[in-house]
Amino acid sequence: MTILIHATTPFAGQLPGTSGLRKKVTVFQQPHYLENFVQALFDVLHGDAPAAGQTLVLGGDGRFHNRVAVQTILKMAAARGYGQVLVGQGGILSTPATSAVIRRRGASGGIILSASHNPGGPDGDFGIKYNGTNGGPAPEKLTQAIYERTQVLSRYRLSDAADIPLDTLGTYSMEGMAIEVIDPVADHAAVLRGLFDFDAIRRLFAGGFRLRYDAMWAVGGPYAKAIIEGELGAPAGTVVNAEPKEDFGGLHPDPNPAYAEDLIAHLMGPDAPDMGAASDGDADRNMILGRRFIVSPSDSLAVLAAHATKVPGYARGLAGVARSMPTSTAVDRVAQSLGIACHETPTGWKFFGNLLDAGQITLCGEESYGTGSDHVREKDGLWAVLFWLNLVAVTGQSVEQLVRGVWQAHGRCVYSRHDYDGIATERANALMAELRAQLPSLGGSTVAGQQIAWSDDFAYTDPVDGSVSQKQGVRVVLEDSSRVVFRLSGTGTEGATLRVYLERHEPDATRQDIPAQEALAPLIALAEAVAHIRQHTGMDAPSVMT
Ligand code: G1P
Ligand code: ZN
Repeated sequence: MTILIHATTPFAGQLPGTSGLRKKVTVFQQPHYLENFVQALFDVLHGDAPAAGQTLVLGGDGRFHNRVAVQTILKMAAARGYGQVLVGQGGILSTPATSAVIRRRGASGGIILSASHNPGGPDGDFGIKYNGTNGGPAPEKLTQAIYERTQVLSRYRLSDAADIPLDTLGTYSMEGMAIEVIDPVADHAAVLRGLFDFDAIRRLFAGGFRLRYDAMWAVGGPYAKAIIEGELGAPAGTVVNAEPKEDFGGLHPDPNPAYAEDLIAHLMGPDAPDMGAASDGDADRNMILGRRFIVSPSDSLAVLAAHATKVPGYARGLAGVARSMPTSTAVDRVAQSLGIACHETPTGWKFFGNLLDAGQITLCGEESYGTGSDHVREKDGLWAVLFWLNLVAVTGQSVEQLVRGVWQAHGRCVYSRHDYDGIATERANALMAELRAQLPSLGGSTVAGQQIAWSDDFAYTDPVDGSVSQKQGVRVVLEDSSRVVFRLSGTGTEGATLRVYLERHEPDATRQDIPAQEALAPLIALAEAVAHIRQHTGMDAPSVMT
């Protein structure tokens, strides 16, 4: 039976950010909180009509509260009259796999339960996001409409049916709605199998190639185990920390040098494997390492673009590429030499969606360990690892050789990102306001001994739908194209995070191995001189440097 719940406390709607609604678990545990968001989503999608005949995909990264939320959403979808829900076994679906399921099964959309790389557990974070029928994140006009709807809702509907046994594959029924508990890996694996030369990768492993894939106790584990160990024949134990845990083992499931210390230690050690890789909480991010060699995400995108035609799925060449604005210009240089377009978009994967749907780009990526292509509408951690394995297999070059090849051809874009976490929101806003106030006078001036060529606040006009996104980050660019970019994070759950992105192009091969922080020292000084980071944040050093 479908029942109508009237809220006893007012609903507190929150504006979903670029990656959906992300809050502390304790916030999501408040009565009606999750329900308010889901009801608002259904109302915006379907108006007053039932969602008859429509298929919804549902799953999450397995973090604490995932199972509770899945059962609630199933009951709300049943009350809403959905024809069918495809839910991952155990409530599990990685973000890229959700995108793959939506696309392959022709679903009307999907709900992903994840706070990505943020810590989990009872005191950690939880999140919910909606992807549309193209498999990609909801556009801003939809998330804005959901928010507005959350503000006026005072009731929602759900079924009073019993919970579904999520761990058993099979088909169930609730209020006439079919619920299919699906294998979370199968659809994604089918998509990946169609892109890469699995035989070549199998031969690579059979020849003794050693990979260490750290799934960080998150949702990437089951996918990597099934495909890399199962299908591609890598030895058991290649994928470590593979079992998804509700609290990610108490760790921060973010694959970068700060949080994947254990993996880095293995790749730097005396018995280092040939390649290292890791994925984040919901398995859309990736980190790639060679033996005693760390690949920057910006360089990774450039390498994949440079060698794409060696991989079956991209053998016909690339329509174009795109990177988020703060990502290094390494891929721009590769694109130029290939004679293809390179688009510069604001931070956040959703900006790639229109370009991918319109067939204007094939590959895209961000400096924040996100890489992907037109095979789904999310970044895809396992996809990136398979791409690298395929390239190593068919070129016979090591990870390090592949990166150095790009540096040799195009110069090295020396790059670093400095994060200042947990700043009081007013103080972070004050820093950005002060920076923006200086914009008219920065170009042409000399600061900290550096001659500034130009500066602006990045704005983007989507070439497909013409929508304009303003204030996407302050750029300060020198005569030699070195640059510093400042922006505030849109995904944090505590205070504000300032991100400072530093990039300098080094064409001279004899200087490409100078440590990044040393090579970037003049830009670091410039960042402090224009933004007064110490004074505004009260911090002497960044919380995280990647
Ligand atoms: C961060 C990254 C951004 C990425 C997003 C979601 O957003 O910087 O590139 O798309 O996470 O994974 P931010 O916190 O900077 O707004
Ligand atoms: Zn993620």
